[in-house]
Amino acid sequence: MASAILQNFLNDLHLKYKSMHEGVLANYIPELAKANPDWFGICIVTVDGQVYEIGDCEQLFTLQSISKAFIYGMALEDHGRDYVLKRVGVEPTGDAFNSIIKLDEYSKRPYNPMVNAGAIATTSLIKGVGPTERLNRMLDMFGRYVGHNLFIDMSVFMSERTTGHRNRAMAHLMLNFGMIDAKIDEALDLYFQQCSLMVNCRDLAVMAATLANNGMNPITQERAVDSRYIRDILTVMYTCGMYDFAGEWAYKVGLPAKSGVSGGLIVVVPQQMGIAIFSPPLDSHGSSVRGIKVSEELSEQFGLHLFDLQTDRSRLLDTLCNKLAT
Ligand code: DON
Repeated sequence: MASAILQNFLNDLHLKYKSMHEGVLANYIPELAKANPDWFGICIVTVDGQVYEIGDCEQLFTLQSISKAFIYGMALEDHGRDYVLKRVGVEPTGDAFNSIIKLDEYSKRPYNPMVNAGAIATTSLIKGVGPTERLNRMLDMFGRYVGHNLFIDMSVFMSERTTGHRNRAMAHLMLNFGMIDAKIDEALDLYFQQCSLMVNCRDLAVMAATLANNGMNPITQERAVDSRYIRDILTVMYTCGMYDFAGEWAYKVGLPAKSGVSGGLIVVVPQQMGIAIFSPPLDSHGSSVRGIKVSEELSEQFGLHLFDLQTDRSRLLDTLCNKLAT
């Protein structure tokens, strides 16, 4: 009963926003501009492994910046909280994801792991003897989150690699300031590879649900990340995951989230569910327009905002379905 009500609610949301045509495709690399602006999927995976989905949930696209949150978890596992905090801060910038403005020699470390500079520095921390071992460790980690092997979209990777001058400039600046070590080309390649991993909307929802489930994949029951780092990952997603929209997002939706320029968006409802939306047209902050609308509506309808203290979180799904049924 509850599941049918939730599924119907998602179907209605999908229908409502399908006809909305705001936003523009990312075009800074030609591959992303080839996306179909009508692609639109919504998927929810609960921590007990139920899957609700509607629309284009099997369409593959590249993970892009959503990867940053998971790589941060891996760096924490590799080095521990204290060391990672010395190398990458946790302060929101209020600037665009690719901003170079606040990267200066006085700050000693990039602001946070969600903006490009911080993400490149975080990726440079991934352990491994040589690029192949680091790539394989990264692929294994993402594989545990989604429950199957992931592959790199080589044309997106090559596109990012040949046109990523701004990212390259940031890496050089960080090298000059002593923020990252000398192997910047290897770090940049791994960063471009993590951005070019192919996923679908259902994969994203399982990844988000794994974070919601304290690091354990709710479908495969495999641990993807040490539970002690979940709070760090969710904190930076909450404060920095939506870049220069993070404050308004926290105010309106009130949940940890991460967006990517290919149109994916993940939202984590701790101890309850992972939500993913895929729709390529983006707003001026580089986040999916339909993704934001759907998230706002889900949060509002179901009282998901973390500080909505009227919500009974122990029976969230049942409560919300009862509410919808009346
Ligand atoms: O660094 C870049 O430009 C991309 N590969 C990732 C950017 C991204 O997804 C930003 N998010 N909205």
